[in-house]
Parts: sequence; structure tokens; C-alpha cells
Amino acid sequence: MPLADQPLPFKRIGVLTSGGDSPGMNTAVRATVRAALQHGFEVIGIERGYAGMLKRCFRPLHSHDVGNIMQRGGTALGTARSEKFKTVEGRRLALQNLREAGIEGLVIIGGNGSLAGGLALEEMGMPVVGIPGSIDNDLYGTSMAIGVDTCLNTILEAVDKIKDTASSHQRAFVVEVMGRHSGYLALMSALASGAEVAVIPEVESSLPEIGQKMQRAFERGKSHFIVLVAEGASLKTQEIYDYLCDFDHYETRITILGHLQRGGAPSAYDRILASYLGGEAIECLREGVSGVMVGQQEEKLTRTPLEHVVKRTSAVNLKVYQLVQLLS
Ligand code: F6P
Repeated sequence: MPLADQPLPFKRIGVLTSGGDSPGMNTAVRATVRAALQHGFEVIGIERGYAGMLKRCFRPLHSHDVGNIMQRGGTALGTARSEKFKTVEGRRLALQNLREAGIEGLVIIGGNGSLAGGLALEEMGMPVVGIPGSIDNDLYGTSMAIGVDTCLNTILEAVDKIKDTASSHQRAFVVEVMGRHSGYLALMSALASGAEVAVIPEVESSLPEIGQKMQRAFERGKSHFIVLVAEGASLKTQEIYDYLCDFDHYETRITILGHLQRGGAPSAYDRILASYLGGEAIECLREGVSGVMVGQQEEKLTRTPLEHVVKRTSAVNLKVYQLVQLLS
């Protein structure tokens, strides 16, 4: 029996995951679908994000269809980055496909670009609620996006292992982590792994400055020297490596963690966050609230207008940058 105690604004909603996958997206889909069904909505899964919307890759989702996925990494619905959807014609076609399938509301799980697509559909008359899913943690309107915690744990596991071998060989490692526009992952993993340096897009770093830090680490008798670099930083991993190779203190190696950072079973934190946000997204649609992204800030569930979300980014805390320097 549906729990609906008030008439729903519409009957059928679509759910999709879009952009780079992040651990916990499956948990968010499960929560969205189950909460929606319990409240009397019908749910259509849209496969492969906006690319699938353009090709009408739609399938009804029942409760059992989202069983046994919450603990899995990746996204069972599939995801994509669609160039065609960015065009006016693409968006018109997407809207037409949704209308023809009887879809009257959408829950979109993804990062900034995906939510910008959601805002465009909202402006064309389709009610949309966004859920932040991205490892980068650069979305305005939530202190954590789904997948960030798992990704940080994956990075830490890798850096801890790198430190084992680095210390054994007295080596320096330049470790590159993801973050096209944001240094959040590099900064937080530097803090939590005890790395000597974080190189992030938000702070101008120079090679001599990194060289001096290495010199000091060597003089203090450190057995390793770890530099964590965000892929989007202006100083590039290879440049840092080439520069450090000219010193005799430590032999230097590079590790680029790459896409393994996006995989893996979601952490407890990400599962809990994804479950909260899936439930909250359906609350919004039940109440007739759309054009928002649900998030969590200071322990509270929040709703931020999509137009604010897509225009702003969440800044890294520069005090953390200073703390990394203080503690290393
Ligand atoms: O946006 C998330 C992200 O993981 C970025 O940190 C990274 O730059 C990008 O996706 C990689 O994208 P792709 O999967 O297209 O290589």
C-alpha cells in the first residue's frame, strides 16, 4: 500500500545517474526508487544518463530491481557524458522522449555538468531534483557529495602503501589524484595521510618551494617525501617529478592513481548520505518542490536552488592547506 497521504503532483518519475560515476550512486538510486514507490509514484530508470534519455533507454523500476545494488561501486543504471544533450535540439528531443514516456518529474544523480543539464530541463518545464554524486566534492550546496568519502579512503589506502615502499627505499613520490577543477581530494588526502606537500589548483605552488620542503624533510631525517598533486593543479605531476629528480636526497617516482579512485564499494558514510538524499529528493517531489539540489550541511538536509549550484563551486578550506604544512 502506498504511504501517500496527500495527492501526488504527478504519477511517473524518471531517475538517472550522469557524468563521472561515484561510489554510492547505486545506493542513491535504491533509496530514490524505494521511497518513490512507497509514496505511490511509478519509477522509470533512464540508462546511461542523458545519452540514454536521447535514445529512449527507459525501463520501469520495481523494488526488486534495485535490490542488492546498494553495496556496489559504479552505477547499475550506467552513465555517460553526452555532447548532443548540450545542444538546444538535443534537449528538445530529450524532453519530447520524456513526455512520450509519461515521465513528469526527474531525479538526477551527478556532478555540476549533470545538474546544469537538469536545470536546463527544469527551465523547459520538467520538474527536476538533483542529488550530488561526484568524487570531486566541488558542488556548492552540500558539504559532502556522494562518493567523496569512499574515494578518500581509497586514496589513503594507496598512499599508506606507497609510504611503506617509499620509506624502505628512501624515496620521494609524486602521487597524482583526481580533481579536474578542485583540490579537495589532494588536500584532504594529504592531511589524512601525512603527506609533506599538497599541490592544488586553488593555491599557487612553485617548484623551488617544493624543493625547499624536500631539503628540510631530508635534513630532519625523514625516510620519505610524498607530494600529493591534484590533476587540475597548474603545476603538473611530470614537472614536479622532473624537478625533484635533480636533487640527490631521495630517488623519485611517480604514481598516478587514475580511475581506480572512482571504483569500489561505497563506505558506510556514503551509503548513509545516499540513503538520506534519495529519500529527501522524493520528499521534494511529493511536496511539489523542484529546481533544487538536495544536500547535507552542518548535519542538516538542505535544498539549494539548482541555479546557485551550477553557478558556484564549493571552495576548499585554505586553513586545511596551512594545517598540512604545519603538521608535515
Ligand atoms: O568529475 C569527476 C572526475 O573523476 C574528475 O575528477 C576527473 O577529472 C574526471 O572525472 C575524469 O573523467 P573521465 O571518466 O571522463 O576520464
